[in-house]
Amino acid sequence: MDKPMYAVEVDGLTKIYGTGDTAVTALQDAGFKVRPGELVAILGPSGSGKTTLLTCIGLINEPTVGKVVIDGTVVADGGWQRGIDLKRLRREKLGFIFQAHNLIPFLTAQENVMVALEINGFARNDAKKRAVELLEALNLGHRAVNYPSALSGGESQRVAIARALANRPRVILADEPTAALDTENGKNVMDLLKKLAVENNSAIMVVTHDHRMVENFDRILEVSDGRIVAEKSRTEERVHHGLE
Ligand SMILES: Nc1ncnc2c1ncn2[C@@H]1O[C@H](COP(=O)(O)OP(=O)(O)OP(=O)(O)O)[C@@H](O)[C@H]1O
Ligand SMILES: [Mg+2]
Repeated sequence: MDKPMYAVEVDGLTKIYGTGDTAVTALQDAGFKVRPGELVAILGPSGSGKTTLLTCIGLINEPTVGKVVIDGTVVADGGWQRGIDLKRLRREKLGFIFQAHNLIPFLTAQENVMVALEINGFARNDAKKRAVELLEALNLGHRAVNYPSALSGGESQRVAIARALANRPRVILADEPTAALDTENGKNVMDLLKKLAVENNSAIMVVTHDHRMVENFDRILEVSDGRIVAEKSRTEERVHHGLE
C-alpha cells in the first residue's frame, strides 16, 4: 500500500466542552495537514486551546465537529468513526509526551521504556537495547536502573519522553516537553525530536510557550481563543534543501 501523503490531517475540527449555558468552545474550525518528517510548533496563550487540539489529534479527546485523519485512517468525522480501534491506533501510531508523566512506579527507568516496546511485539533483548540507547541520548544512561521515586522531575520527564519515542511512532505529540527542564536538557530533547523527524520520518507536533524554541520548527501554528490565527512555514525551504 502507498504511504499516505500526510501523517495528520485535520479539517473543521471543533471541540465544545459541556452543553447549554456552561458550554465552552475550546477549539473552532481548525484545519491543517502535517507531512511525515515535519516538525510543527503550536504556540498560543494559556487557555487558547493548544492541549485540546493535541488531545483531539491524539485520540484521547473526542472532537465535537470535524475530521481527524491519522496516517491515512479517518479516526473522527463529527465524533469518532464507528468501529475504529482507538486504543490500538494510539499504541501503534502515536507517541505522547505530556506533563503528567505517569511512569509505572514499580518499574525502573529502563523497564518503563521497555514496556512500551514489549506491548508492541519487540523481543526483550531488542527492547532493552533500544531503551538504553534512548536513555543515553537523553543523558539518563546512569539512571537506567533507578525507580521513578528516585528520579528528579526533569529526569522523570525525560524517561517519559524516551518511552513515547521508543516505538518510532508515525506521529509524536508533545505538550510543553521542555518546560520542566534546564537549558541543556531542553536542548537535548529538541535535538532528539529533530533527529527523529528526519530518521523515522515522524510527524511531530509540539506545544510550547517558549518563543526561543521556534527556530527549531518547520512550521508554526498560532492559536488564539480556540482558533488558528496564523501559520508560518519553513517546510518548503526544507524540502528544497533536499531533505525529502
Ligand atoms: N475538560 C474540560 N472541560 C471544560 N472546559 C475545558 C476542559 N478542558 C479545557 N477546557 C477549557 O477549554 C479552553 C482551552 O483549554 P486548553 O487546555 O486546550 O488550553 P491550553 O492552550 O492548553 O492552555 P495552557 O497553555 O494553560 O495549557 C480553556 O478555556 C479551558 O478552560
Ligand atoms: Mg495546555
